[in-house]
Amino acid sequence: MAGAIAYISRDTDGVAWEKLLTEALGPLDFRRLRDGLGNTDDIEIALAWKPQPGLLASFKNLKMIVSLGMGVDHLLADDKLPHHVAITRIMDDGLVGQMAEFAVYWALWHHRDIAKYAASQKAKKWKPEEFVDSIHRPVGVMGLGTIGTDTAKKFAMLGFPTMGWSRTAKTVPGVETFHGRDALPAFLGKSTILVNVLPLTRETRGLLDKKTFAALPKGAFLINMGRGAHVVDDDLLAALDSGHLAGAALDVFNTEPLPADHPYWAHPKVHITPHMAGYTNPRTASPGVIENIKRLRTGQPLLHTVDPKTGY
Ligand code: GLV
Repeated sequence: MAGAIAYISRDTDGVAWEKLLTEALGPLDFRRLRDGLGNTDDIEIALAWKPQPGLLASFKNLKMIVSLGMGVDHLLADDKLPHHVAITRIMDDGLVGQMAEFAVYWALWHHRDIAKYAASQKAKKWKPEEFVDSIHRPVGVMGLGTIGTDTAKKFAMLGFPTMGWSRTAKTVPGVETFHGRDALPAFLGKSTILVNVLPLTRETRGLLDKKTFAALPKGAFLINMGRGAHVVDDDLLAALDSGHLAGAALDVFNTEPLPADHPYWAHPKVHITPHMAGYTNPRTASPGVIENIKRLRTGQPLLHTVDPKTGY
């Protein structure tokens, strides 16, 4: 039998992954961190989500690391990560679609004043609110990878003027694109709804700070489904409290789970979800992983590889 596949996650049990991989590849030596990994010299492939630092480096015969999230910052944060081992990440159409749904949901919630109508209902008040036409509600999407591109296209389809910002130049049909730091003020200046799906890298950590918030139009709404560490929390709270920002829907946090005493919990303009904007769905994510396992075992180039230098 080929080398073992180790499932390294404390969040999920890997049962679905074992079933799907076995159906596609035949009998497997599939091991779970939860149940003990046995002799780790046997491990050829690790499917990993937030592995304990140093763990992957201790697998002497490891040939491929598969990130169970589309974001790979959880792997690159490990300073002992074995750089001679190929790193790939899942590509999951299911997750991509969910992320776009999350962004569109909150954008429409804000755009159509749903909170005000909920308050009116409580007061038994029939009160149509001032209406903003979608053509006057530009949406800016930060990050134009697979998720950001899909999200931006969906906003454009709904009729919102849609912009995208990325590190390198990209073109997306129906979307006005900007790239690089120099273009950031022009992009932010028009983004009445800002959606963050950037990868977390050295360059993007803390990018959502006071300068960025100040560059947004007054009354802008933030949707963060990238990483918590993109946001300087005190700066966001200040921008909300000053009234410059109308609200923020946050799915990701600097510390997860969000600590019970964090000011976000009780903030009237903050909407919290527990990192659920996109679930890695084994059904939709496994075909790409199966393909890569076959490629690894037949010496062909791998798909969806990660460049540790760029961080995605
Ligand atoms: C989830 O956060 C992911 O990176 O897929």
